[in-house]
Amino acid sequence: MRTDPLAYLDKELNSLREQGLFRPLRVLDGEQGAHASIDHCSVVNLSSNNYLGFTSHPRLRQRALDALSSLGVGTGSVRTIAGTMQIHMELERRLATFKKTEATVVFQSGFAANAGTVAALLGRDDVIVSDELNHASIIDGARLSRATIKVFPHRDVAAARAILADLPRGQRTLLITDGVFSMDGDLGALPGLCDIADEFGCIMMVDDAHASGVFGSQGRGTVDHFGLHGRVDVQVGTLSKALGALGGYVAGSRALIEFLYRRARPFLFSTSHPPSVAATCLAAIDVLETEPRWMEQLWENTRFFKAGLETLGFNTGESESPITPVIVGESSLAVRLSDRLFEEGVFAQGITFPTVAHDKARVRTIVTASHTRQELQFALDAFKNVGVELGII
Ligand SMILES: Cc1ncc(COP(=O)(O)O)c(C=O)c1O
Repeated sequence: MRTDPLAYLDKELNSLREQGLFRPLRVLDGEQGAHASIDHCSVVNLSSNNYLGFTSHPRLRQRALDALSSLGVGTGSVRTIAGTMQIHMELERRLATFKKTEATVVFQSGFAANAGTVAALLGRDDVIVSDELNHASIIDGARLSRATIKVFPHRDVAAARAILADLPRGQRTLLITDGVFSMDGDLGALPGLCDIADEFGCIMMVDDAHASGVFGSQGRGTVDHFGLHGRVDVQVGTLSKALGALGGYVAGSRALIEFLYRRARPFLFSTSHPPSVAATCLAAIDVLETEPRWMEQLWENTRFFKAGLETLGFNTGESESPITPVIVGESSLAVRLSDRLFEEGVFAQGITFPTVAHDKARVRTIVTASHTRQELQFALDAFKNVGVELGII
């Protein structure tokens, strides 16, 4: 009889169950939204990256429907063979104008954009200097590149500089940071990192997944927010979070984009976006440029909710963005807090090791422009009750 070669997986899963870390997937019964039905429970949703509420914006929905009708449901090919439509090129031109760069290339996801770009730009003889909390897609891209990876403590520009100062002159080096860190909501040390990138001649790259549509004028990201146009060689953004659809892009020089067209493996070897996705993204940029109220509302809600959590006495870390962690320490406590909040009608996902350090487990909250003041107050009341019940505040 054949023995099951995957039997070890049961062991791993049981170990997660014993630690209380085996989480079933939460399932939305309908649309994504600030208030949603999840696992048949009506909850205030503080767990999506739908910052501006664009997943259900009528202009985006209509553009997707129009593209579905006129261009079909899929492209049937990778971009480099037969899968580039006019609408893909239009989106890339539009994004380049929006980001104030020469060109952009759109990938199937932000993950693919980061991993594909880092792995394409660097090779075995190169060095990658990376913030310790950078996203998994950067870490995977760095590993795929086979470059030497050197990690600096979170946001520590002096430590990054010391690493660079130790490298041989002329060493090809990528200096890379998230623009907004997804688990803590704080900003990358971009201005200081740009200075040392200039000093040592590094390639400077930022992953603006959580800054796209959230920071900078009309949501142009952290480079715009900090006034650093022209000093960051590679800007990654996503179309999957605030922009409401799916995808990632790289913005930079024409040479960078032409190189990625020919060397970035996810671009070369994975089918392109359905035209409806590209159309949705084009509509999202239109809305960003013409309806400032969504970003304004997002920030107003962010200020209200953050202040509420802080007043209640929770540890909310150093967040500067709509992502506000409620750090509790132990993984099991974070899971308990999240579960109890859900029972009280609030969905705020628990985040535990290995996504964050063992002693930094948390519940992560993300407010959106679509939350009403009543929904946010309801969530704060639930945090208060459950926080007291679990002895966190
Ligand atoms: C910091 C960061 N970068 C990149 C990504 C990947 O983006 P996408 O969801 O578009 O693949 C994420 C998504 O979770 C992220 O948080």
